[in-house]
Amino acid sequence: MAILLDGNRTAEKIELNMKTQIEAFEETTGIKPGLAGIVVGDNPASASYVRRKRRRATAIGMFFEQLKLPESTSMAEIKERIDALNRDERVHGILVQLPLPDHLDPHDVIDLIAIEKDVDGLTTLNQGLLYRGKPCLMPCTPKGILRLLDEYDITTEGKNVVVVGRSELVGRPLATVLAGRSRNATVTVVHTRTREVRQITKLADIVAIAAGKAHMLDASHFKQDVVIVDAGMNSIPSDKTKSGKRLVGDVDFESASKVASHITPVPGGVGPMTVCMLLENTFEAARLACGEP
Ligand code: GUN
Repeated sequence: MAILLDGNRTAEKIELNMKTQIEAFEETTGIKPGLAGIVVGDNPASASYVRRKRRRATAIGMFFEQLKLPESTSMAEIKERIDALNRDERVHGILVQLPLPDHLDPHDVIDLIAIEKDVDGLTTLNQGLLYRGKPCLMPCTPKGILRLLDEYDITTEGKNVVVVGRSELVGRPLATVLAGRSRNATVTVVHTRTREVRQITKLADIVAIAAGKAHMLDASHFKQDVVIVDAGMNSIPSDKTKSGKRLVGDVDFESASKVASHITPVPGGVGPMTVCMLLENTFEAARLACGEP
């Protein structure tokens, strides 16, 4: 049976440590790290994600401001709100929860965020720095995946890593960093137009998947002792739960865990690491804002 890559436990450990550091930071500087979360419209999943971010931020001593804007919010209105947060000294990090309503271009909205407050690492400028291998605020899910691998002493040096999914949020930045000089993996990106996915994933030492497709991969896609990191979060019908729904990843955990050496559970794997890295980026932004390295 595979070893579980426990995101809950790892995130809890990092957050406990961060809480102590934040207390010390506040004592010496008088500054409380602050995060603002913007939700536009009534997407229940977005509201729930931002609630979770708020709970975790306040639990470690951060200030959190939530902006809930109506579905009809115009680009001019959202610009006004983000400009105000860019100027707000209590706020060191700004996140715009995605997806946005169709009339708002997510690139245009995200690029309104000041680069030093872009704790999701999604502005054009931060992405440019990432692709150049320069210091930057890194997107939270790829950062969380790498931290989880580090926690379990899984190196990527010289390994065949297959990234499934080419999203701006996860797949693309993850593949870039893995192939870079700090991680030295041989990276293959699999996406919706890839033929013979199984032939490619079968060669992987490590598979990281963020495809948004429940149970896309099962045991037959992997070689023995593969490391599987599953960033998928899909709600599927279930007659075993009260809500009638169940959260599953992009990998069929039950079969895949029989061939893997290490595997993330869903929930409790990548999800908590993403939130934890958002908090870490916010603390980093707060430190940089007051001139600390
Ligand atoms: N929607 C799904 N994942 C994310 C994320 O990591 N950040 C933001 N802002 N929105 C998301």
